[in-house]
Amino acid sequence: RSVRLIGAPTDYGQDRRGVDMGPSAIRYGGLSDGLANAGVDTQDAGDLLVPRAEERDPEYRTPSEGKARFLRETEDVCGRLSNEVQQSLADGHTPLVLGGDHSIAIGSVAGAAAEADIGAIWFDAHADLNTPTTTPSGNVHGMPLAALLGVDEWAGVDWANAPSLSRENVAIVGLRSVDDDERELLRESEISAYTMSEIDRRGLANVVEEALAVAGNGAEGYHVSLDLDWLDPTIAPGVGTPVRGGVNYREAHHAMEQVAEDGGLRSMEMVEVNPTLDQHNETAELAVELAASAFGKRIL
Ligand code: ARG
Ligand code: MN
Ligand code: MN
Ligand code: MN
Repeated sequence: RSVRLIGAPTDYGQDRRGVDMGPSAIRYGGLSDGLANAGVDTQDAGDLLVPRAEERDPEYRTPSEGKARFLRETEDVCGRLSNEVQQSLADGHTPLVLGGDHSIAIGSVAGAAAEADIGAIWFDAHADLNTPTTTPSGNVHGMPLAALLGVDEWAGVDWANAPSLSRENVAIVGLRSVDDDERELLRESEISAYTMSEIDRRGLANVVEEALAVAGNGAEGYHVSLDLDWLDPTIAPGVGTPVRGGVNYREAHHAMEQVAEDGGLRSMEMVEVNPTLDQHNETAELAVELAASAFGKRIL
């Protein structure tokens, strides 16, 4: 397999500065060597150009009068990211997108879904299923999965290629922070949602096996969206919205090894690494190690 790295250095989608340095931190953490050791050819397409947030006006009301800070800027970045992802797939390289906050998933998945019916596995503490109306924060990083599924006012949003995903092919793994309206949506929809409690009870390996089956069922591969706040903050402190009680080091590796073994991975992204909140770049280095596992690194 060969991989193309695409950096999307945004911090429009949340309110802690510094997550725009994620792509640099992950590269500095040894990504291309890590992937080379996993036996993967890697090329680096560099970073998208992203204007600094200070130069932009975050306030913008959607037609529904909902709140979504930096929505216009997010649209611009995601449109360009979608094109890069499509180009990478057309050239025969698996896209590995480096965030940036999780709002960039709208572009990564729109690109991966443009020419194929795909599923997605969302490794995350959060559901990211808000809309500009339900959001408690106005932060678009809490909304990308809703945008891609075309939930409510996200329906038909062309830059999200909405719907890029269908509910029966989406699995969220690791949930432990869910807003009321998200909970409502998860109760009534076919989205497969695996909480940390379920992971405690069944074991992560069993849950991931099921999630892979959900994402791949009848689909032409799936996208893996890895929000580093999926992990427990004791091993991944460099994220903007940490939540205690996440998965541990070996669990995370094993999940990525299952992804590699399954063989259905079409595209991947790693988001929410914020080096200004990190300890000695350890969250970025963990992202590197997990990418190596996802792309086939084995102990023996
Ligand atoms: N649910 C909260 C919100 O909508 C937090 C979302 C966190 N999302 C993330 N990608 N870290 O603001
Ligand atoms: Mn499609
Ligand atoms: Mn999250
Ligand atoms: Mn997220």
